[in-house]
Amino acid sequence: MTFKRDKGILCVENINFLKIAKIFGTPCYVYSKKKLIKYFNYYKSQLSLINHPNLICYALKANSNIAIINILSKIGSGFDIVSIGELEKVLTAGGDPKKIVYSGVAKKKQEIKRALKVGIKCFNVESFQEMDRLNLIAIKLKNKANISIRINPNVDAKTHPYISTGLKTNKFGIAIDKAEEAYIYAKSLKNIKILGIDFHIGSQILKINPFLEALDNIILLIKKLYKKKIKLNILDLGGGLGINYKKIKLYKYLIKKYFSTICEIIFANIHNIEIILEPGRSILANTGVLLTKIEIIKKINFKNFAIVDAGMNDFIRPAFYNAWHNIKVVDLNKVKYYKNLFYDIVGPICESSDFLGKKRYLNKLSQKDLLVIHSVGAYGFVMCSNYNTRKRPSEIIVDKNKIFLIREFDCLKSLWKQEYINRYVKNVNLF
Ligand code: LLP
Repeated sequence: MTFKRDKGILCVENINFLKIAKIFGTPCYVYSKKKLIKYFNYYKSQLSLINHPNLICYALKANSNIAIINILSKIGSGFDIVSIGELEKVLTAGGDPKKIVYSGVAKKKQEIKRALKVGIKCFNVESFQEMDRLNLIAIKLKNKANISIRINPNVDAKTHPYISTGLKTNKFGIAIDKAEEAYIYAKSLKNIKILGIDFHIGSQILKINPFLEALDNIILLIKKLYKKKIKLNILDLGGGLGINYKKIKLYKYLIKKYFSTICEIIFANIHNIEIILEPGRSILANTGVLLTKIEIIKKINFKNFAIVDAGMNDFIRPAFYNAWHNIKVVDLNKVKYYKNLFYDIVGPICESSDFLGKKRYLNKLSQKDLLVIHSVGAYGFVMCSNYNTRKRPSEIIVDKNKIFLIREFDCLKSLWKQEYINRYVKNVNLF
């Protein structure tokens, strides 16, 4: 368990979840600042063993709240972004543009322009077409675009197919057998400056081998390129390291194993190169929980439903990836009978895929009981929607005994603010 109990009540730092629910309502995403700093620093300490210049570019897509960005940038993080929205958020939150790497398979012209103007560290380029686009824009702006080429190493990350990105059948990166050609082509473009090489094979990876297989292929490639007088300054290993949603203790073990193995390989094979990592989940996931209240207890055909006020629009991972998240009752003192029952924890949305957990063995639950869904700090709030015209929940962060609101509940009117009943658009020539 990531969050501790005090007298039977689950707490975040010095504050218990009952108080938070009373002040902010539910559903509510709750993060711990202490845990955020702890997980980032642990990662950083492991990375520094690598004995090369290094930079963590936290993958913003995991959680892009500006308060989170602000905390991470203050403790030295760079950022991996995938859109102009993410870029502007980093700038707003005080992040350093020189520590930004820009990933993504289809960056639009406006996005590229803005990133070039603010002087990001480098573009992780995923196609020949993108190189052309970058070069043309850089010429127009009388600028140079720094690039790493994202290579698709054709490695099976052995994770959920939706989040597997390193196979040759995936849309990501340039196929490894086209890599030399890609570097030679990049070299021929006047306003492109080659900085490095990048790969990212997927997410929620729990085995070290796929990373090693990819790294071995990439190191061979770096050596080949070196012989062709293409020298690289950056090796970006992407993100992807998974967490164990069931047993938090295994987290350190996996990270240690990952770093000790990659350190050894990098140390033995390459020198004078900056190592970049793009972790998202492995830093953020266990910093946050989703607090939700039981609205209705329903029993049908020997099955118990606890229908809570957080739906798949508030947290989509179980519905989308069939993901398993630990679910706990906040206040054990309220449990009247210590009788354990199986429950399906479901939301209020009109879909049968709207569940947060199935067949959970919990103490007998009552209406109004509070539950927490664990390990939702990554790919939680960022994947929310307004489906069923529901307000997206608030987000708060706790710092010792202080609570900070970092995002308000959507306000009801904002749900249709950008809609019109019949706004006539003049001068549209359809034929
Ligand atoms: N770098 C790139 C280029 C990526 O595409 C991603 C994640 C990361 C880094 C960070 O990966 P991480 O360390 O977080 O595994 N919504 C899914 C996860 C999608 C991941 C997409 N790319 C989920 O909820 O499991």
